[in-house]
Amino acid sequence: MKIAMVGSGYVGLVSGACFADFGHDVVCIDKDQGKIDRLHAGVMPIYEPGLDALVDSNVKAGRLSFTTSLAEGIQGASAIFIAVGTPSRRGDGHADLSYVHAVAREVGETLANDAVVVTKSTVPVGTGDEVERIIRDCAPSHRFAVVSNPEFLREGAAIGDFKRPDRIVIGAEDEFGRDVMREVYRPLFLNESPILFTSRRSSELIKYAANAFLATKITFINEMADLCEKTGANVQDVARGIGMDGRIGAKFLHAGPGYGGSCFPKDTLALLKTAEDYDSPVRIVEAVVKANDSRKRAMGRKVLEALGGMETARGKKAALLGLTFKPNTDDMRDSPAIAIAQTLVDAGVIVTAYDPEGMEQASPLMPDVTMCDSPYAAIEGADAVAIVTEWDAFRALDLDRVKALAHRPVLVDLRNIYRPDDMRAAGFAYSSIGRG
Ligand code: UGA
Repeated sequence: MKIAMVGSGYVGLVSGACFADFGHDVVCIDKDQGKIDRLHAGVMPIYEPGLDALVDSNVKAGRLSFTTSLAEGIQGASAIFIAVGTPSRRGDGHADLSYVHAVAREVGETLANDAVVVTKSTVPVGTGDEVERIIRDCAPSHRFAVVSNPEFLREGAAIGDFKRPDRIVIGAEDEFGRDVMREVYRPLFLNESPILFTSRRSSELIKYAANAFLATKITFINEMADLCEKTGANVQDVARGIGMDGRIGAKFLHAGPGYGGSCFPKDTLALLKTAEDYDSPVRIVEAVVKANDSRKRAMGRKVLEALGGMETARGKKAALLGLTFKPNTDDMRDSPAIAIAQTLVDAGVIVTAYDPEGMEQASPLMPDVTMCDSPYAAIEGADAVAIVTEWDAFRALDLDRVKALAHRPVLVDLRNIYRPDDMRAAGFAYSSIGRG
């Protein structure tokens, strides 16, 4: 089957490469000539483990190609995926649908065969209806259906998530849409990945509800962590204790500096906007958004405390290990590190940092922070070291070297990757999250 993937960002490129790997004939389309040129040269526009090899092997097998021309790319495709960005609209937090609408228009104007148009971009409920109207207004003479097929992959684990999904959600309004989608996902269906067919609107809402629920779970355990610190309990035990209850589940209960990334912050805000539009409040999500925002700054204050407090912080030095919103990505969007660095810089602290993949993206976001080429270079002379992102490279630091290089052996572990007893035995003034 021929598949066109419009938008070669995270979701588009990973999905396109994986569909090609299933044996489909895939064209990835993007307006960004530079990106397409780099892809032709085998250079990935994003850091994602395993993606370069997957792209390379499928290009060599002749199943994956790239173009800037939508009109050319969609010709003969049975499924045309829309996987363009839906960023937060400046000012009001609504999902900005201008890219989705523009693609729908162009598809409508150039479609020359029967096809299913599939929205993979995260879009507010009702967007499928609009996409359908736009395409119909352009009056193609061909049969088409508009289907919703949200993506649940995580950055850093994207290929595994795509190939072994917990479920595939397909929101279709007619049999033509459902039949083509069954064919698209046949290889996964054979693998027994559950496919859930719903209405288009339900499918669109499932995506937001899933991300909002996960963001809620994280925020819940983060607030429990604060309570653990005050009461002398241990949040890891609490998470384990509640997670063993099958109704709650153990995943997404790691307390930390707050969620970031390209999805949870944007999607929770967009869900609030939808709720407002329909006059149907989602108060829990409102509280989650507020709590997560203030948590990021609170983490900066936690590092200030470790430096001896706000009053005496000026001129002291803090080293941040890890800047990206999570490991195995170079993505800095809404990373807690940004608010933490800003809080420290505002208090007059000299901040150094190291991240295995994120420094290029981080530099313009934190111009006052000095980027270093190793964790140890960042630690040199530091009055406090803070682990902000749990990259594997920080899990087994040479603690003697850290102690020798730092001005003071102070470690703030915002991801709980070390054990308090071990760190105290190693001579560190150690603080972490929710382990009172
Ligand atoms: C998230 C969802 O997990 C995916 O299912 C979804 O497809 C994706 O958004 C999307 O909408 O495109 P992602 O943003 O890549 O994926 O990253 P996550 O692994 O979910 O982590 C998000 C944030 O939550 C990170 O800052 C992470 O550090 C934090 N987190 C996660 C915690 O603080 N604790 C946890 O237990 C889990």
